[in-house]
Amino acid sequence: MEINGKTRICGLIGNPVEHTLSPMIHNTLAQRLGHNMVYVPLFVEQDRLKEAVVGAFALNLLGLNVTVPYKSEVIASLREIDELAKKIGAVNTLVRTADGYKGYNTDMEGLYRAMTSEDIRIEGEQIMLLGAGGAARAVAYLCAVKGAARVYMLNRTGDKVQAVAQEVNHAVGREVIVPMLLTEYRNIPDGKYLAIQGTSVGLAPHVEDVVIAEEAFYEKIHTGFDLIYSPWETKFMKMTKAHGGRAYNGLKMLLYQGIIAYELWNHVTVSEADAQTIYEKLKAHFTLTD
Ligand code: ATR
Repeated sequence: MEINGKTRICGLIGNPVEHTLSPMIHNTLAQRLGHNMVYVPLFVEQDRLKEAVVGAFALNLLGLNVTVPYKSEVIASLREIDELAKKIGAVNTLVRTADGYKGYNTDMEGLYRAMTSEDIRIEGEQIMLLGAGGAARAVAYLCAVKGAARVYMLNRTGDKVQAVAQEVNHAVGREVIVPMLLTEYRNIPDGKYLAIQGTSVGLAPHVEDVVIAEEAFYEKIHTGFDLIYSPWETKFMKMTKAHGGRAYNGLKMLLYQGIIAYELWNHVTVSEADAQTIYEKLKAHFTLTD
C-alpha cells in the first residue's frame, strides 16, 4: 500500500504501546481489502489523554483504539458512547463522527464473536466466571446483556465480587450474576457449565498457576474459555481438557476486537476467510514466541 495524500490514519493510544499486535491486524486487513489506511502505535504520556483525543480529532484521524490505562478515562473525551460500552464503563475503540468520537467496547463484542465462531453460546446458558477485576466485570456485563440464564461469578475477594454482581444485576434488571468465593464452587448445582477464566492467573511466565487447583471443579466444565493467550495453552485449559472439556484461549477475542474496530472505521464486513488469515498470522507469532 502506497502512502499518499488520501491515506487515512488510525492508531492505538495507550501507555505502554510497544508490544501491541494491533498494527499487524489492521495493516494486514487494509492491504488485503485495498483500503488506503495505516494504523500506528501512539504513545500517550500520563495526564495528556484529553489533549491526545482532541489533537487526534483535529488531525482528522479516522479512528483510535484505546488500551491500558485509558479505557475508562477516555469516556470523558467522547461525543457519544455505545450502549454496551456505557454499561461496562470501558471503551477500547473510538470512531470518528462529524463532531467528535463515538466510543465502543469491541473487546466484549470481540469475545462474543470469538465464542460464536467456536459455536459457544451465552444465551440461555449456565456459566461459571472466574474473577471480578476489570476484565471479568466486563464479561459479566456481556453475559448478562446477551441473555445468560445464570452466571456463578467466583472470586478470591468476596467484597469485590459482591459489588460487581450487585452492579450488573441492577443495570440489567434481573438477578443473573451470583457472587461466590472461589471455595464455594462446590455449592454450584451439579451439571456441566461453560467456564470463562477472566483473571490474570496463569499468564506467562507463571504458566503453572491456576485460580482453582481442585480437580473436582473441572468436572463441572463442558467448555473452558480463557481470556489469556500467552501461554497458548494455560493450566486452566489443560485441566479442563484433562476432564473431558473443550478449551479455548483468548487469541480469537484479540482477533475479533480488532476486526470489529476495523469494520466500524471502514464500513465493511470482514469475511471469515480474511479473519482466518489474520488469525494464522497472530497464531504464528504466539506459537513461535511461546
Ligand atoms: P484485570 O483488569 O486483568 O481484570 P484486575 O482488575 O487487577 O485485572 O483483576 C485481577 C483479578 O484476578 C481479580 O479477580 C483478582 O482477585 P481479587 O479480586 O481477589 O484480587 C484475581 N487474582 C489475581 N491474582 C489472584 C490469585 N493469585 N488467586 C486468585 N485470584 C487472583
